[in-house]
Amino acid sequence: MKKNLNKEKTEKVIIFGNGQMANLAHFYLTHDSPYEVAGFCVDKDFLKENSFNNLPVVSFEDVEAIFSPHVFKMFIPISYKNVNKLRAKKYYQAKDKGYELISYLSSKATTWPGLVIGENCFIFENNVIQPFVEIGNNVILWSGNHIGHHSKIKDHCFLASHVVVSGRVTIEPYCFLGVNATIRDNVVIEQSCVIGAGTLILKSTTKNGVYIGPPAKLYSLPSDKLKNI
Ligand SMILES: CC(C)(COP(=O)(O)OP(=O)(O)OC[C@H]1O[C@@H](n2cnc3c(N)ncnc32)[C@H](O)[C@@H]1OP(=O)(O)O)[C@@H](O)C(=O)NCCC(=O)NCCS
Repeated sequence: MKKNLNKEKTEKVIIFGNGQMANLAHFYLTHDSPYEVAGFCVDKDFLKENSFNNLPVVSFEDVEAIFSPHVFKMFIPISYKNVNKLRAKKYYQAKDKGYELISYLSSKATTWPGLVIGENCFIFENNVIQPFVEIGNNVILWSGNHIGHHSKIKDHCFLASHVVVSGRVTIEPYCFLGVNATIRDNVVIEQSCVIGAGTLILKSTTKNGVYIGPPAKLYSLPSDKLKNI
């Protein structure tokens, strides 16, 4: 996948959502992609306003009648709710409607030729993605992760910021990795795991597992009693 160095708007996209994630997607696509955002869609029950960021908002149920999948593409920047299952559900529903789902790869990410990235991926700035990495469909890499060589991140995963994925790691579908998690080389993170913020994973995990590292302890002295700082 090529980065978006040519910013000429050549294709039109509808974004799912009208909250902060949709706002961010609109911002990144507008400033750093060849896609022009033409509007937004939300589930009918959530349709309270007809416009967002000065663009139309329509119901997801009716979107294909207004923004034809023959003309418009779609982007679904839903966060990690229900351990990514909500985003996956909408991803499959949009595909069933006939939409092609775009991916956004920040021009400020570091990548190498031959990178494989699926559909509906949202890859923010300062991700370092080494050679021979494969990224599946519907994956979100928030800012600043390191994805080591020959690693595979499968469908519907979400990596928060500054996760270190060492070389030859496999992350199975529907995983969530919190900020500053660290994954040792050759490890497999099995399906639907949650890796808590700051957690160090040294061995392969078990499916649906929640892993948390040691939290910080309160020191015995308050800060104004420390001698060396
Ligand atoms: C793992 C996680 C999902 C659990 O969430 P939760 O169910 O709401 O858990 P709680 O915050 O209620 O914490 C439960 C216990 O686990 C501990 N714990 C939670 N997360 C921890 C972590 N990452 N490391 C160490 N301990 C942790 C808490 O200290 C608490 O311990 P206690 O019962 O002894 O007080 C969450 O803590 C986490 O790490 N989320 C990721 C945050 C993140 O990366 N956000 C960025 C999103 S873009």
